[in-house]
Amino acid sequence: PVGLFGEQRKNSMGVNFGNDNEIKALADAIAASVQSWKATPLVPGATSSATPTPVTDPADRRRTVGSWQAADSATVEKALGNAAAAQPDWDRMPAAGRAKILEHTADLLETHRGELIALCVREAGKTIPDAIAEVREAVDFCRYYANQARKLLGHPEVLPGPTGESNQLFLHGRGVFVCISPWNFPLAIFMGQVVAALVTGNAVIAKPAEQTNLVAFRATQILHEAGVPAAVMQLLPGDGATVGAALCKDPRVAGVAFTGSTETARAINRALAARDAAIAVLIAETGGQNALIADSSSLPEQVVKDAVNSAFYSAGQRCSCARILFVQEDIADKVIAMLAGAMDELKIGEPRLLSTDIGPVIDEDAKKILDEHSARMEKEARLIKVAKMGEEAAHGTFFAPRAFEINSLCQLKREVFGPVLHVLRWKAADLEKIIDQINATGYGLTLGVHSRIDSTIEKISRNVKVGNCYVNRNQIGAVVGVQPFGGEGLSGTGPKAGGPHYLTRFVTERTVTINT
Ligand code: NAD
Ligand code: ALA
Repeated sequence: PVGLFGEQRKNSMGVNFGNDNEIKALADAIAASVQSWKATPLVPGATSSATPTPVTDPADRRRTVGSWQAADSATVEKALGNAAAAQPDWDRMPAAGRAKILEHTADLLETHRGELIALCVREAGKTIPDAIAEVREAVDFCRYYANQARKLLGHPEVLPGPTGESNQLFLHGRGVFVCISPWNFPLAIFMGQVVAALVTGNAVIAKPAEQTNLVAFRATQILHEAGVPAAVMQLLPGDGATVGAALCKDPRVAGVAFTGSTETARAINRALAARDAAIAVLIAETGGQNALIADSSSLPEQVVKDAVNSAFYSAGQRCSCARILFVQEDIADKVIAMLAGAMDELKIGEPRLLSTDIGPVIDEDAKKILDEHSARMEKEARLIKVAKMGEEAAHGTFFAPRAFEINSLCQLKREVFGPVLHVLRWKAADLEKIIDQINATGYGLTLGVHSRIDSTIEKISRNVKVGNCYVNRNQIGAVVGVQPFGGEGLSGTGPKAGGPHYLTRFVTERTVTINT
């Protein structure tokens, strides 16, 4: 479809799984690209002295994927100096020139699609459909923000001059932007942040998640190949607590685009505020405690299909995933029985196989947190089902999807980042209470509603404070330019990624008045 907001842009195409030739071409491209990947800091004039760390496959830890090298403190310092020096020239370049580079980047991402899919599967444990979606979203971000930048920064806004003066409003990059991304969308979120900051005239220092440096390294090489100068787009692999923290306390940093946990967003906010420097912008997209509310008018088959998809696919490792299913008591037994049946059909295992629905979780730490949560739920709640896992899961960090029936939302203290669904029954008279409880969590990311009663849909969607509300469908997979994505409260600062206001936070405004 042609994008919203009057733009002449189409989102990228997926893969037609009904076409054997297309599948074979993709499989060949993936197979041909496999190699031992390497990631290092990409900082002109600096070489890190850190010892490389091996990268293993989350689906089978015996398989090595490559290695990555962290930035040392001298490399961090060099990157900050390079970025501050290079930014003014990049900002002076007409926005149309930067937009063209983004469009070239999108084309190159598509050219390298096989390799990027292979990397997302091997380094991050993504299933093939999820890896295809990663590349598509990254491509869409490039083309969408290129378009938006032309509109927003292409020419100054000419303002009235009632006294005979000329008034023009110019938008500029803020300066050095630090982009800190998570592992769960190693390509799409990495690229979304970075290209938004670049196209608006900022120099970028990207600090990807420790778990997915290889994807970020290839994406950065592609940006350079497309024409972004090496000092304008630099990559600093490293720990959040060292490299990330060092960047956020540096006075040369004008803004941070962060996606990750609410706790880390708070730490970054404190670090930025403590600097003896100009006040920096923080764009934070964080976690959720997302609910799906189904009333007795909804179709149980549809509720179960969408709940399974929203809670368990992508191994529950999307911030948008459904964590709590509120089901009205009249249909609760039926929905719970059907949910257990649907979970029997899930294929969990090797993400390299197209037949796999759910792959591994990202690492041992993630699995441990989920195991601990599950052990607590087994004591405090009623286990509905644990999905079966195949033997091929024995050597990876797999966690079987599971569902529990709980008595109260108070049993969930924080976001559970994995394939666990918590089911709560509700009575018709309790709808307001549910709305209040969801709002009281303080999170506000996604909400699913299943109902065929217009007044109920309206009441819920008007009163639950969330960034993205989905009615009678699944609640994951926002599309760039179609469902601008992001939350409020503990879930983020806004503006929404893939929406018409996103770029505005990356710029500073300058009014020029000339007495003619
Ligand atoms: P995380 O907060 O642990 O890490 C995110 C990034 O922050 C990583 O690059 C990490 O190295 C860095 N970091 C950690 N400590 C830092 C510090 N003190 N200073 C600077 N940087 C630091 O999150 P994660 O585990 O990688 O990702 C999962 C979380 O991300 C979940 O909470 C999920 O809901 C959230 N998420 C939100 C969105 C959204 O759009 N709202 C999208 C994806 C993921
Ligand atoms: N943007 C991602 C989704 O909508 C997180 O699922």
